[in-house]
Amino acid sequence: MRLLFATSEIFPIIKTGGLADVSGALPTALFASGLDIQIVLPAYRGILATCESPRLLGALQVFHDISCDIYQTTLPGTHIPLLLIDHPQLYDREGGPYHHPQYGEWQDNALRFGVLSKVAALLSMPNDLQTWQPDVIHCNDWQTGLTPYYLRQMGSSTKSVFSIHNIAFQGNFHADWRHRLTLDEQDFKTEGYEFYGHVSFMKAGLYYADALSTVSPTYAKEIQTEQFGFGFQGLLQHRSADLTGILNGIDTHVWDPSTDAYLPVHYSVSKLRCKKEVKHALQTELGLTVDANAPLLGVVSRLTHQKGLDMLATIAHQLLDSGCQLAVLGSGEPALEQQYRTLMQLYPGQVSVTIGYNEPLSHRIMAGADIFVMPSRFEPCGLNQMYGLRYGTIPVVANTGGLADSVHGGAPTAAGKLPAKMTGFVMPYHNPWTLLVTLRQAIAIFANSGQWLQLQKQAMRQDVSWETRAKHYQKLYETLVPG
Ligand code: ADP
Ligand code: GLC
Repeated sequence: MRLLFATSEIFPIIKTGGLADVSGALPTALFASGLDIQIVLPAYRGILATCESPRLLGALQVFHDISCDIYQTTLPGTHIPLLLIDHPQLYDREGGPYHHPQYGEWQDNALRFGVLSKVAALLSMPNDLQTWQPDVIHCNDWQTGLTPYYLRQMGSSTKSVFSIHNIAFQGNFHADWRHRLTLDEQDFKTEGYEFYGHVSFMKAGLYYADALSTVSPTYAKEIQTEQFGFGFQGLLQHRSADLTGILNGIDTHVWDPSTDAYLPVHYSVSKLRCKKEVKHALQTELGLTVDANAPLLGVVSRLTHQKGLDMLATIAHQLLDSGCQLAVLGSGEPALEQQYRTLMQLYPGQVSVTIGYNEPLSHRIMAGADIFVMPSRFEPCGLNQMYGLRYGTIPVVANTGGLADSVHGGAPTAAGKLPAKMTGFVMPYHNPWTLLVTLRQAIAIFANSGQWLQLQKQAMRQDVSWETRAKHYQKLYETLVPG
């Protein structure tokens, strides 16, 4: 079985969110289990200069006026072949993979990711670059949504899996793009890549892929409903026999409190007392009052409507007035950023807010906080709650998507015994007051050191690794290419 994994971001090279973490860790787990795998990614600015000995394989003619050089290197820290698409005009820019540094999304994203989608498909056909052709292409999110379409257009025998990491981001572009992207006119319709008069990369993936997957079993069900489907619920109901939900894992080497290079002190399930030293150091670093007994709530997140952190801001006064501390790292909607900045001014020594993206600090908050808060309105999978479990930082989560599938809630019995499976707290309803009540339940248990220790140990022992979960993908590929 030969697999091509197509993605628009990958840890540790380029990351804006969880897709990068999954794109780094899932292929690594598949490769370790013996799968013959290659990865394809655009060569954004600086990547060719920093990756290890890139070798030019040759050029691919993508559209009549666009030819790309394809370089081969390896994913850092692994032996997995990584193919980089070099087209400086499209990818060698200051800014993020999707955004201009100041002015929102790149205006030519349809072309930039049309090229990524087409290159992946072209790699399935005999070419001058290499003799290796994939049996299956695993596409991820809208940025690779046109690949299944191009495969069909080219008459390729390679199968496709399209994974939905977040159906809210759809890659819908003006209808005129169909000409530039050489999409056939007759497929610009409901039974095709058209979506409300637009060219939709997400729709193309959902319509043309041989198999569909998403990143948790609960989200697989949710996206078939009007509330979570963002307009695609009908198509997903229609394709429900081809849709599987496979819960993401995490990279347990990158996220390991006993070796994490960003931490001042290491700890493990058998040496949990050292976690207190990490908390002490974090409080000092962030200008919080050093107090082991103050429950320290952590947030590392995009500050957007999806993540529900406006609810935390609404109830923050009640929590802070009762002695909690709050450490927030994130960026996003300006109004929400401002709300958190104001809280920091109102509660000096109790609230720390860092606006921006900071990988080392994200690890230290994950390790130094007591409770990790994730009240998302929807969450396809979510990785931070699993980092929280691994670090003994107890997650308080909404009852949705991968949060519901990865955190086991519960409450102590009248005799004070915690359920053996309990690893966190799950909000039964989605509103600020339920979040407050659920956080107060967590804080009450935090005050009982014996119960808290038990909960931390149960959380840290929960299997969140890719090892077993990657096997589900392998089985999925095998259903498409038996033998
Ligand atoms: P999403 O991809 O929807 O943002 P996930 O929970 O799947 O949510 O993944 C988010 C990833 O991005 C995690 O690895 C998280 O630690 C990281 N992250 C989010 N915001 C920041 C930030 N401001 N600084 C550092 N890492 C961040
Ligand atoms: C998306 C989702 C997130 C998921 C990640 C990786 O960014 O919002 O829930 O964990 O993809 O699959």
